[in-house]
Amino acid sequence: MKVETKRNPARGANYTELAPVEISASSRVFILTGAGISAESGIATFRDKNGLWEMHAVEDVASPQGWRKDAELVWKFYSERRAQAETCKPNVAHIALGELEKKIGDKLFLCTQNVDGLHELGGSKRVVHMHGELFKSRCEDAKCKVGISREDHALYPTLASIAKCECGSRLRPDICWFGEIPFFMDRISDALDACDLFVTVGSSGAVYPAAGFVRHVNAKRPRAKSIYVGPEEPDNADEFDECRLGKASAVLPGLFRVL
Ligand code: APR
Repeated sequence: MKVETKRNPARGANYTELAPVEISASSRVFILTGAGISAESGIATFRDKNGLWEMHAVEDVASPQGWRKDAELVWKFYSERRAQAETCKPNVAHIALGELEKKIGDKLFLCTQNVDGLHELGGSKRVVHMHGELFKSRCEDAKCKVGISREDHALYPTLASIAKCECGSRLRPDICWFGEIPFFMDRISDALDACDLFVTVGSSGAVYPAAGFVRHVNAKRPRAKSIYVGPEEPDNADEFDECRLGKASAVLPGLFRVL
C-alpha cells in the first residue's frame, strides 16, 4: 500500500474531473494494457459479465495440463479467438497509443497482456506482448530447436487438423498459459525501474505478475505517477495515485499532453 501522502484524493474520479497528464521531453512512460482496451473493438474480456472465463474453464483451455488432456479443445478455443479477432478493428484508444508513440518514440514502453494484434493495427510499432500473440504458434516441445514462434492464422478445429512442427510434434498457441512464465520479463522489469509515469488501461488487476507492476513502480520509482483507466476500479486500485473511471475510448484520446 502506498503512503497516504502520495495517494490522490482523486482516486476513483470520473475521468472528466481530471486534467490531462503532462509528459515532458525526458519522461519515460510505461503503459500496461489489458482486455478492456479491446472490449470496444468487440473482443470479449475475461472476467466481466459474459467474459471468456464465464463460458470456458480456464484450466481446460489455457493451461499446460489442459493441453496435455485435450489439445483439440484448446485449439478449438483459440481457433474461435482467431476467427473473431480477424474481424475486429482497433478503436480510438489503440489509435491514441499509436499517436503517443509517434510523439515520444522509445520513451514509451507499451506492454500488453492482450494477444490480439490491435495495438499494431492502431499504429503502435513497439508492442511488448507479455502473454504472447494469438496469430503465432510454436512447437509444443520446449526443447525443440526448430519449432520457434511463427506467424500462423490457421484454424485447427479438430485433432487431425492440428499442424505439426518440422520435428513431428504438434504446434501449440504461442500464448502464455496459467502456470507459465510471461514473455520478456527482464525487459519489462527494466522499463518499470526507469518509468516516470505508469498507466494501466482496462485490466482487472487479478492476474500476476502484471497486476503487481504498479506496486513494483511504487517501490522502485516513488516519485512516478500511476494512473488506472477503465470503467470500474480494478482489484489493485489502492496502489494507483488515480483511477480515471471511464471507457478507454473516452479517456485515452485526451489523457496525455506532450510538452
Ligand atoms: N475500457 C477500459 N476498460 C474496460 C472496458 C473499456 N471499454 N470494458 C471493460 N473494461 C475493464 C473491466 O472493467 C475489467 O476491469 O477491463 C477489465 C478486463 O479485465 P479482465 O477480463 O480480467 O482482463 P485482463 O485484466 O486483461 O486479464 C488478464 O488474465 O485470463 C488472463 O491471460 C489472460 O491476459 C489475460 C489476463
